[in-house]
Amino acid sequence: MASNEVRQRRIERPSDDVKYELNERKPDEQENIPQDTGFLMLFKIGVLVTFVLPIVFLLIVVIVVPSKVNAVEYSLPNPPVWEGPLKPNDLLLQSERIFEGKIKGPESMVNQNGHIYTGTADGKVLHIYKGEIQVLATLGQPPCGSFADEPNCGRPLGMRIDKEGYLVVIDTYLGLFRINVATGDVFQIFSTSMKIGNRDPVFMNDLDVASDGMMYITDSSIFQRREFPLDVLEGRNHGRLIQYDPETNSSRVILENLAFANGVQLSKKEDFVLVAETTRFRIIKYHLKGPKTGRAEVFIENLPVSPDNIRRSSTGGFWVAGAVCRGHHMTFNLFDWIGPKPWLRSLVSRQLPLWLVHKALMPCGMILELNQQGDIVRAFMDPSGEKVAFLSEVEDDSGILYLGSFSTPFMSRLNINKLAKRA
Ligand SMILES: *[C@@H]1O[C@H](CO)[C@@H](O)[C@H](O)[C@H]1NC(C)=O
Repeated sequence: MASNEVRQRRIERPSDDVKYELNERKPDEQENIPQDTGFLMLFKIGVLVTFVLPIVFLLIVVIVVPSKVNAVEYSLPNPPVWEGPLKPNDLLLQSERIFEGKIKGPESMVNQNGHIYTGTADGKVLHIYKGEIQVLATLGQPPCGSFADEPNCGRPLGMRIDKEGYLVVIDTYLGLFRINVATGDVFQIFSTSMKIGNRDPVFMNDLDVASDGMMYITDSSIFQRREFPLDVLEGRNHGRLIQYDPETNSSRVILENLAFANGVQLSKKEDFVLVAETTRFRIIKYHLKGPKTGRAEVFIENLPVSPDNIRRSSTGGFWVAGAVCRGHHMTFNLFDWIGPKPWLRSLVSRQLPLWLVHKALMPCGMILELNQQGDIVRAFMDPSGEKVAFLSEVEDDSGILYLGSFSTPFMSRLNINKLAKRA
């Protein structure tokens, strides 16, 4: 009877049974129920925020935002061990900053009998003499200073004095100029709207002038200077070395498929020209005379610093300055790490503002002296970029080195004849 009653009740009032069964649990379990649920909720939200949302966000980014680059894989050799001439030092701490706050990003410099010429990020070509800074020429049109202004403002990069004493300047956006250093008169040799090879130059970077007037000029990329992180993210070899003949006003591409073609330097005998491949940490040698004429080979590879401009050293070799250091001992070598990950570079190009990519570069100061054979003879360092960083050129005046930088508001000077012994 009793069991029948129970059965009936169960059939009639199932909801009471559910309550009853719940109440059957042990008291401590009952107390734990709300806490368990809270913790579970928190855990779920945590997982959502940490893993699911970023993945969903990335998927949306990938679907909605097109990649700005067509990235390809590349790899660098194992980073160099800093030993021998690369034994770590902080000799660049002995340099002094000059004209601090008065010049913006003096990328390249020429020093002629104490007259220093340099081009700055605000589109000016400056003449500095006995500590006094004067604007020698302005190649573009104001306004200057913002990302949008840069192509019209101009950005003078590599510069040289030619045989007749004119200052020859390559402006990355505006073309090749010859400037009378006495009067400041500017003559445009060609503009960047002149087709060279199969395309207009986009990112003209550095030049050298041979004794017969022939010029060797780099065109770094199909991305403009202000968008240089995109070249890094794409990882393709868009760089070219151009030979320009002022006699005939004609240009030809003598080397292409270079990775971020940057600094250019003729040898003293003008039997070869060097060109830096910044993002591959190597320098290419192109033969201009002898049995290998017209052929290129690696001059030095696996450099400990990304090579920017190359200039002759007063001891008969070459100075190389660069912005990004890499080494076997470093916890993180950015270029080595991103090389085999084109998908990551492609992803980064979709969303990140370029200045942020720029910020990912760790400050570091390093200059290298190479001999004629392409061996590193010595290196001066400021490994944490405390005193100098983002270097782009060394101008050697009998052992007094002027150090240029594409981004710092000063240049630096280091007298290597009077270096203090390290502790
Ligand atoms: C060289 O040729 C280009 C293109 O035809 C022209 O714009 C430029 O003025 C020429 N330069 C000289 C120095 O003749």
